[in-house]
Amino acid sequence: MTPNAVDVIKAKRDGGRLTDEQIDWVVAGYTAGAVAEEQMAALAMAILLRGMDAAETARWTQAMIDSGDRLVLSTGGRPLVDKHSTGGVGDKITLPLAPLVAACGAAVPQLSGRGLGHTGGTLDKLEAIPGWRAELTDEQIRAQLAEVGAVVCATTPRLAPADRKLYALRDVTATVESLPLIASSIMSKKIAEGADALVLDVKVGSGAFMKTPEQARELATAMLDIAAAHGLRCAALITDMSVPLGRAVGNALEVAEAVEVLRGGGPPDVVELTVRLAREMLALVGLGPPHGPDPAEVLASGAAEPVWRAMIAAQGGDPDAALPEARTVEPLLAERDGVLAGWDAYPVGVAAWLLGAGRARKEDAVDAAAGIRLLVGIGEPVVAGQPLLELHTDRPHSLPAARAALAGGPRLAPEGAPTPGRPPLVLAALGSATQP
Ligand code: URA
Repeated sequence: MTPNAVDVIKAKRDGGRLTDEQIDWVVAGYTAGAVAEEQMAALAMAILLRGMDAAETARWTQAMIDSGDRLVLSTGGRPLVDKHSTGGVGDKITLPLAPLVAACGAAVPQLSGRGLGHTGGTLDKLEAIPGWRAELTDEQIRAQLAEVGAVVCATTPRLAPADRKLYALRDVTATVESLPLIASSIMSKKIAEGADALVLDVKVGSGAFMKTPEQARELATAMLDIAAAHGLRCAALITDMSVPLGRAVGNALEVAEAVEVLRGGGPPDVVELTVRLAREMLALVGLGPPHGPDPAEVLASGAAEPVWRAMIAAQGGDPDAALPEARTVEPLLAERDGVLAGWDAYPVGVAAWLLGAGRARKEDAVDAAAGIRLLVGIGEPVVAGQPLLELHTDRPHSLPAARAALAGGPRLAPEGAPTPGRPPLVLAALGSATQP
């Protein structure tokens, strides 16, 4: 008997398991328009409240992949390995990571999204580079992978179209937070992309989607289970997002910081996470040390920068062009003497967003030059009146709200008070090929 939408909703509402047939039917029907928006909204809410087990989630992922086409990216040359981050404040790691891993011998296809809310999107960052374009055809992606070894671009329209439709619906029905729906959304796009291996960077902390280590571990495990069910080699790191990554938050500011890292400099936390993720990616495809190059050495030597330049130029960007600069740059001053005990990622992310670095609705434009530059490192002494950070914006009317949002951003401890320093970056590794 063909399933019908009301029975599928009832089954989940009452805490039952969905059958493979029900899942295939409802996802295909929704994509084709035969299952109505209100029916899928009710089902998404039932899934949020009742959950799905690992087998249901794997099947749901398969149905979303089958709603479109798989990209065939293999060129018969280098192994293909991708990374996905669940997003955070100042997370520009893809920018140095993709050229670094390509410089070490793998090919990196990274099909990405734009940011929504206080975490920035990789495409928004790269679009700060004059001329750079995100939209490529399948053929252009393949050609760039073969020639340059790395491509960061927009997802293509035929890649898991069910997810695009369902994500927009979840966004307006308070059902984004369902763990199986998040896991299947991310993994359907990654599996359809056709990489040989995938490393997940699951962020935890005030600036991340997942606020507790338990939630982050649960999401990582759900995604690893989906990868295992689909035969995709996969590892996951759970990494700190209670503090922004690096000193720059905002699109052009983050590109400039990524270029510093590619030239062998940059903030130590950005370098550490880039190298650690590169090691995981290379290990999954059998190219890491001791047989292959050490990504720490490759990054420090500046050898990944030419790959970055080629990657930007291949998509119409000018790697030598000046990046946009904000017309208004104002400092936030320390109110008293003390020691900087910490930066809280969430207020910093919200302030950058208010200044114009992020969007509230997906059709909004972002300001390439807007954002925040942190001037003081954790553990450093400060004196009253010293600038702690800079606010960059072309929307001066947003400054009072951004300053108000930053109230809890810098945490000042009294002089001489012990400060714990930056929290460890990598909190756990699951399925890691570099760990015993
Ligand atoms: N990112 C995605 O791609 N999907 C989700 O559901 C959440 C974050």
